[in-house]
Amino acid sequence: MTETLTAAKPAKYAGYHQREVPGTDRELTAVGPGTPFGEYVRSAWQPICLSSQLGDLPLAIRILGEDLVAFRDKSGRVGVLHRHCAHRGASLEFGVLMEHGISCCYHGWHFDIDGTILATPAEPPTTRIKDKIVQGAYPTIELHGLVFAYFGDPAHVPPPPRLDTAEDERVELKPFVLSIPCNWLQVYENSQDPVHVVWLHARIAGAHFDESNAAEQELDFLETPLGMMNVQTRRWGDAVWTRNVECILPNLNQTGALWESADTEKVFQRVGLTRWIVPIDDTNSLQIGWRHLGSHLDPAGKDRPEAIGVNTIDFEGQDDSTTYEQRQRRPGDYDAQVSQRPVAVHALEHLVLSDKGVVLLRWLLRRAVRAFAEGKRPPAVGLDQLSTFTQDTVTLLPQGEGDDRTLLRRHGALVAEAVLASAGRTPAEREAIVREAVTGLRQG
Ligand code: FES
Ligand SMILES: [Fe+2]
Repeated sequence: MTETLTAAKPAKYAGYHQREVPGTDRELTAVGPGTPFGEYVRSAWQPICLSSQLGDLPLAIRILGEDLVAFRDKSGRVGVLHRHCAHRGASLEFGVLMEHGISCCYHGWHFDIDGTILATPAEPPTTRIKDKIVQGAYPTIELHGLVFAYFGDPAHVPPPPRLDTAEDERVELKPFVLSIPCNWLQVYENSQDPVHVVWLHARIAGAHFDESNAAEQELDFLETPLGMMNVQTRRWGDAVWTRNVECILPNLNQTGALWESADTEKVFQRVGLTRWIVPIDDTNSLQIGWRHLGSHLDPAGKDRPEAIGVNTIDFEGQDDSTTYEQRQRRPGDYDAQVSQRPVAVHALEHLVLSDKGVVLLRWLLRRAVRAFAEGKRPPAVGLDQLSTFTQDTVTLLPQGEGDDRTLLRRHGALVAEAVLASAGRTPAEREAIVREAVTGLRQG
């Protein structure tokens, strides 16, 4: 028996026996029309570009494996159409923007933003083509500088994605979009992998964010009404810092203030980054969303608003804009995620305790994908739930005689419980609820 095991799995130099690369986890990673996740993700509005990208020319885009064209017509309305003209397939990226809609460059077929044919000028006036054919089109909305489209069943258009964090009057929302050449899931699940914050972002090659990120964490992972959040609690000097980072299914994530240094007390401070991971196709994705700018989120003035936009963001490691050698010496999220292969192969992974958040996220996604396939509509952010959960709370709690890990865990649990329990209340009420939970800890 022992011999058989040894032969099947040599202890050393096992490369020869481990060359096979199995298939990918298509239930969660395939995004094209008709795929399980692809259909589920189409049930939510998806940001596709920045409003500022729609100028006096059409924009060719590819989203969820579909080739499209986005444009703003001369009356200011936004259209998203199938890219290839319904006549003989010329790309509408070469089309002409009209007062209403767009005209194909080849024979002048004129489409409105809903795909209706307004004119087929080379055909006789009696033609009934307009009554028989439409160009594929998707509904759009614009929110805070982002263009969203809805790619799902037109019988079930969800409400626009309203978020409490986007309605905070103290912050300016600055839209951005970055592309990343790998499958969407390995980008998304990074946000439920807080262990990488300690290693990739702080200990491996110096601090990408504040040095406090290098402190050991006490971790927990909890389901929320819209997905899940992690509970990261660290000691930093005399302070205890609990950060919650959430995923709102299917593909939205919010992260706390980017430069948080945990050196002043705060309660229920909200987010620095709201971003969707939108699949372009199975092996390419967009990170697209808003950076939240405000002096309370960035007291040290580290934000660089001028560096936030199309293919650029004001924090390190999100693209391949530095040299290969620089990336090898100081890798970032981009390098870690893209190098997991074009589509990470789950069957080759060895998931361990520190992957608990990734395991829970995949489980929740799989459950949602299967429920959707059975006809159950997912909760929609903005309708069923406006409150979101990402926050930071820092409390002055000097290390005492007792077990500090227990104190950290208690702080994390009380904050998380209060953050969840306060859903549906006003921001001020939510802050008061979290404050009271932490005050109780201090007294107790
Ligand atoms: S291919 Fe577009 S009008 Fe002919
Ligand atoms: Fe990261």
